Formats: sequence, structure tokens, C-alpha cells
Amino acid sequence: MRLVKVRSHEEMSEFAARHILDKVKSNSKVSLGLATGGTPVRTYELLIEDYRKNHTSYEHVFTYNLDEYAGIAADHPNSYRYFMFEHLFNHINIPNENVHIPRGTASDIKKEAKRYEKLIDSIGGVDLQILGIGENGHIGFNEPGTPFDTRTHIVELTESTRQANSRYFDEYSEVPKHAITMGIATILKSKEILLLASGEQKADAIYRMFEGAVSNDCPASVLRTHQNVIVIADEKAVSKLEKVRIG
Ligand code: GLP
Repeated sequence: MRLVKVRSHEEMSEFAARHILDKVKSNSKVSLGLATGGTPVRTYELLIEDYRKNHTSYEHVFTYNLDEYAGIAADHPNSYRYFMFEHLFNHINIPNENVHIPRGTASDIKKEAKRYEKLIDSIGGVDLQILGIGENGHIGFNEPGTPFDTRTHIVELTESTRQANSRYFDEYSEVPKHAITMGIATILKSKEILLLASGEQKADAIYRMFEGAVSNDCPASVLRTHQNVIVIADEKAVSKLEKVRIG
């Protein structure tokens, strides 16, 4: 696992956008695993800026999102589908049929999880997976305790995750209790993983990911078993790590 320490959220976003653009330019049919949350928003903005300026084409790019809330309609402003179109897809030339996001309102959600897993299997895992990290070390919506061999599945969100995500909702009670997410084994199938972390609220999770045991108490720690992971983290996110290393 390679750690790239950067000074700020902006530098983290610039590094991530450059990395994604390199992939898209060297392989026009690249498959990208994408994440939602506040962390990658600026990265997506930079991709849009590049698209407007340099016309980098996404015509043949395929995307696979990590997760989606269960029970929220696709066109609801809090759905991850809505988020992705709002923050990226509406502003670049990716065809709608190349975009894949789990369907949180599927009538048989377990069947939907199986369908999504099969889809990712059919491409042999994504070429590049972008990840954020939860304050409790979750990746996607794989909360602490999730076995490492889990495939795309339905999860019950922890109180900590619901609290952290409630900032996007009018009321805490509106935050869904369940979600559908790529499993840890699904994420590990990615050929390359780029994890982004910014801010001191992520410092604990980053510390545990690097210095703690590889254990499902901190789902992100499993990334230490993958051959090709880059973590881009700003000063605040690595603050606990540095203390340990210096001391
Ligand atoms: C959510 C998402 C994750 C994301 C995490 C961090 O729960 N399911 O994919 O990485 O929260 O979000 P943020 O970037 O807003 O801190």
C-alpha cells in the first residue's frame, strides 16, 4: 500500500483527477469504480473542468458505483445515482448505458445484489476503483465486522455512518437504515485502488488502516492485502499516523 501525503483537500483532488485522467487517456475503454460522499466531489469537478477544456472523451468508459441507499428512488436528490449525475455524469460525454449503479429500489434487492456482483465479475473486476473511507474505517458501505469474503450485499448501516451521512438529509430520521454495496471481495477484485482521505475526522481510520491489525474491525485494513493500492491523504488525515511514526 503506497501512501501519498498531500497538503490539502485540493492537492488530494488534483492527484486523484490526474490519475483518473491518465487511465482514461491510456485506455479509452477503462472501467472505473466510483465513490460518492464529500471526499471525491472536487476530484469530479476537476474531471469536468478538464472535459470542458481538453475534451477528454468518456464515450467508451464504463463506470460501476460502489453503493446505493436501499429504498430511495433513483431520482431522489439523496440517492447516490442522483449524486453521480449531478456531480459528474451530466457534465461529461459518458453514455447512460455505460453507467452502473446498484438499484436501491429493486423489488427483490437480494437478487439485485447478485446481478450487480455478476456484472462486475463479467469484467473481471474494475480497472481502477476510487474509494473514500468512513470514520469507522468502512469502505463502500462495508461496516466493521463485515467478513472479507463478502460479495455485493445488503447492509444495515451503523449509527455512526447514519450520523455522518445525515448532513445531506433534512432530518436524521430520513437517513436510510439499509444500503446495497459492493462487498469487500468485490472491491478487492479491482486491478488498482485509489483511496482518498481528507480531514481530521478520518485520522483514526487512516491510523487503523495502516497501523492496526488487518481485521474486519477496520474494513479498510484489508487493503493491505491488495497488490496495487495508493492512499492519497492530506495532512489532517495522516496526523495520527505521523505522530506514531515520529514518536
Ligand atoms: C459513505 C459512502 C462511502 C464513503 C464514506 C465517506 O458512507 N458509502 O463510500 O467513502 O461515506 O464519506 P465522505 O467522503 O463524505 O466522508
